[in-house]
Amino acid sequence: MPQPAPETLDALGLPRWLLRARAGSGAGEVAQATGGVAAVTDSEPAVAASRAGAVPPASTLAAASLAVSAPTNTGRSADVVETLEALRAEVAGCQACALAGGRTQTVFGNGNPHARWMFIGEAPGRDEDARGEPFVGKAGRLLGAMLNALGLTRDEVYVANVVKCRPPHNRDPEAAERAACRGYLDAQIRAVKPELLIALGRVAAASLLETDAALGTLRGRIHALPGSELPVVVTYHPAYLLRQPVHKARVWEDLLRARQLVVPQVV
Ligand code: URA
Repeated sequence: MPQPAPETLDALGLPRWLLRARAGSGAGEVAQATGGVAAVTDSEPAVAASRAGAVPPASTLAAASLAVSAPTNTGRSADVVETLEALRAEVAGCQACALAGGRTQTVFGNGNPHARWMFIGEAPGRDEDARGEPFVGKAGRLLGAMLNALGLTRDEVYVANVVKCRPPHNRDPEAAERAACRGYLDAQIRAVKPELLIALGRVAAASLLETDAALGTLRGRIHALPGSELPVVVTYHPAYLLRQPVHKARVWEDLLRARQLVVPQVV
């Protein structure tokens, strides 16, 4: 088990991302809510050796992904990377829905091609549209901090969105747009072969599970991706947590439950 990095834990051994709230809002409520989390916190929490809260720049992530995929000792590395790169090129030219007209570039996804955990977000925002990488803005930094507290970095998981182009004014992607992009997401899942999907927020949960149920009712249990046995854990979107930090404790619970089901570290 990696040694805790002191900067990721507070005096009680709780991850700092959980307690860090927007100035002037929610910090007390979050601190209170963590009482419930202690019950599911491991006695030996794994904590990242890397910087708390920092998401590596896109170039670092790309390099890390390549470093993981470079060895050709199993054929599988090369195959997965090749498949994902072919898919990335296809997505880059996609004109399947009106979102194509408003994008700076497509945002395919990134991370470890052999990841055990695959996070699914909703759609690129302004930062992602500019960078061409998922979750690189404020919400992405929070996602990075959550991963760090689990002893993970962004290059050990795979991150993708339901739709690959930014919707205007960051509105929710419409059903037709989600449907137009669905084949790409399914192909990413087939290529990476994760052992667990984590749906971040209502749009991702609704798309993956084909349901209109409220997010609160989907949390707290393990679902299966329709038509398969792939487990799906549903939790709040990091952007929502930035507005409602009181729910951070619930997300931490969800992540710890996910870790009980599937060890996230890539071997
Ligand atoms: N929100 C998402 O759902 N996805 C991103 O990539 C960024 C923000």
